[in-house]
Amino acid sequence: MKAIWLALCLPSVFVKSAKLSRSASPRLQHDSSQATAFARLSSKNAVAQKLRKSHKDANACPDNQFPPVNVTVQGVGYLDDILSGDILGQLQTNLAGHPDWEIGKPWTLSMVADSVEREMDRKFGFAGGEGFNVFMVKKARVGQKIRVTDKVKTLAISTRLEYRGQDPITLEGAIHLTDICLRPMTCDAFFQQHKKECLDDDLWKRKLNPEQVTGHTRSMCCEQMKCAEEAPC
Ligand SMILES: *[C@@H]1O[C@H](CO)[C@@H](O)[C@H](O)[C@H]1NC(C)=O
Repeated sequence: MKAIWLALCLPSVFVKSAKLSRSASPRLQHDSSQATAFARLSSKNAVAQKLRKSHKDANACPDNQFPPVNVTVQGVGYLDDILSGDILGQLQTNLAGHPDWEIGKPWTLSMVADSVEREMDRKFGFAGGEGFNVFMVKKARVGQKIRVTDKVKTLAISTRLEYRGQDPITLEGAIHLTDICLRPMTCDAFFQQHKKECLDDDLWKRKLNPEQVTGHTRSMCCEQMKCAEEAPC
């Protein structure tokens, strides 16, 4: 089943990414009025574009299992799904095929959220127990960077992303979620939680590019230093 899904979907993914990279530079210029203003301010346009591109690369999310879609939330009540059936199915298929989606393993969910609601902050999260990877979208705020890490509480086939607030969301186009990424916890999050781990340590040093390395323990995120032969540890 997974093989069929891959066979059907991979070519279109490649086409999409090829198109994206070809149109990337013109799109950057028209991104937003803010970006245009920024470009105008900069006397060296090319330098500014380069900087923005590398910033974008740094935001890439390796091992992302969330389907490449943006989500609009409207017309949902308590514990309703916020993903449409086909997107949810795709997510479940991805997670079922990932060796790390296991109950008890830490995964990180991140996104950028925009809310045009005036009354209420809204709570979302995955179904299971009291919910996991639960996050709040604040009212009347755009560009909210959200990032939560939590232990998995459901099997892949019963994973659902839900609205978890009591009051229904009725406003049209109330909340937009973009840049959604779901992946196993990476070592940069581990180091945020354990600020001194593998620093000034005679035995361990941090692996390079911790945001690219999946891990939640010292032995996953650090490597033992090899001692020079003439100066054994
Ligand atoms: C999602 O939204 C972002 C920001 O508005 C946009 O650049 C991107 O193309 C959208 N992606 C999809 C799949 O619609």
